[in-house]
Amino acid sequence: MSTQSRGVSSGKLAIDGGAPAVIHPLPPMYPGGMRIGQEEEASVLEVLRSKRLFRYYGPEPGPSKVAELEQRFAKMVGTRYALAVSSGTAALAAALAALEVGPGDEVIVPAYTWISTAAAVVAVGAVPVIAEVDDSLTLDPADFEEKITKYTKAVIPVHMRGTPANMDAIMSIANRYGLKVLEDVAQADGASYHGLRLGSIGHAGAFSLQFNKILTSGEGGMVTTSEEEVYERALMYHDVAASQRAGLPQDRTIIGVNCRMSELQGAVALAQLDKLEGILRDSRKHKRALKEAIADVVESRTMGFRRLHDEDGEAGISLVFYMRTPEAAQYVVSALHAEGLTCSSVLFQRGSSDYHVYFHWTPILNKQYWGAQGPWRWNQRDVSYDREMCPRTLDLLGRAVHLDISPDLTDTNVGEMVVAINKVLESL
Ligand SMILES: Cc1ncc(COP(=O)(O)O)c(C=O)c1O
Repeated sequence: MSTQSRGVSSGKLAIDGGAPAVIHPLPPMYPGGMRIGQEEEASVLEVLRSKRLFRYYGPEPGPSKVAELEQRFAKMVGTRYALAVSSGTAALAAALAALEVGPGDEVIVPAYTWISTAAAVVAVGAVPVIAEVDDSLTLDPADFEEKITKYTKAVIPVHMRGTPANMDAIMSIANRYGLKVLEDVAQADGASYHGLRLGSIGHAGAFSLQFNKILTSGEGGMVTTSEEEVYERALMYHDVAASQRAGLPQDRTIIGVNCRMSELQGAVALAQLDKLEGILRDSRKHKRALKEAIADVVESRTMGFRRLHDEDGEAGISLVFYMRTPEAAQYVVSALHAEGLTCSSVLFQRGSSDYHVYFHWTPILNKQYWGAQGPWRWNQRDVSYDREMCPRTLDLLGRAVHLDISPDLTDTNVGEMVVAINKVLESL
């Protein structure tokens, strides 16, 4: 395509040698991480000075940062309990164990999620069954229902890139089949679905506080639930001595692994939690402004924006529109990069390994495990995988142009992003 044949209306494209539209540098996409400041410093220093680095005890008696974090996190999400753990993957595994998922069980996971969602299923000895996403890029309820067998025990809807899954449809199917619902909220701290915070809708929620996430303590995770027994089992999974500490009866004790959160992480996460509403307010504001300003050109030159199940509730950290073909998506992203919009990407490319797409989950697809056959040996039917098994997901992701929306964008950044996107799309 030459510049002339694309009928450029707002200046020569940078990919064709024109001046880039984005001049001011974009902030790195570490929403919570970029807001680390004096509050985190003071909180960590307080812990260090007390020498109490372990949540359950230290040289002097005193309050635990992790315990305070749990209380405040549960309040924010709207659940009775929150349990702090060492990572989002650990939160998923602890929640699955707490929901009594184990060998012989199948768990349905979406084809578009970080590999941890499936890895946690394997970690508790169960088998992941992969289902399609729809044009919201979250679990397709129809394919979820299609994939249910008599061995299905649970489903993990994932609120991808700050955006809620179709929880009404998923809950109603899950209830009909008596399945447990574990929400994967790793990428959507603080977002909500029709007035309910994510992580409070299913039987349990799992959050991540890893460095890329909306809130961060470098590493960390949270399990949320309102069910006492689920909380107790998660507690025992995350701390091998929990039943002794909590005085729980030995005949109800389950064995677990230690994946506790340290007081240092708790101190950082607690300071971050105070910043959540500000982060959400800013990213939502930038996303709204950007979306409005590119809406006409997206409507006329592309296949439209990603479908959203609750536009007001989503975290606002990403924006997606679909092109007609993967080639067009790749061209648009190359042109946006040339304009200086380095926060843009195509969500799936066959030749570029990315653990967000099941197609690239080689260890799962090949059932590579540390012991012979892994959990698949316990499965009562053959669950096998194929790289092409979710063609709709691959088609959607291959045509999806994604933009990171940092809460730390300035109005100037947003203005330049608008110019770049309009310029590139108008040229098509
Ligand atoms: C959707 C999703 N689930 C789970 C995880 C796992 O979180 P962590 O890296 O804290 O183990 C992540 C993040 O990496 C994620 O994006």
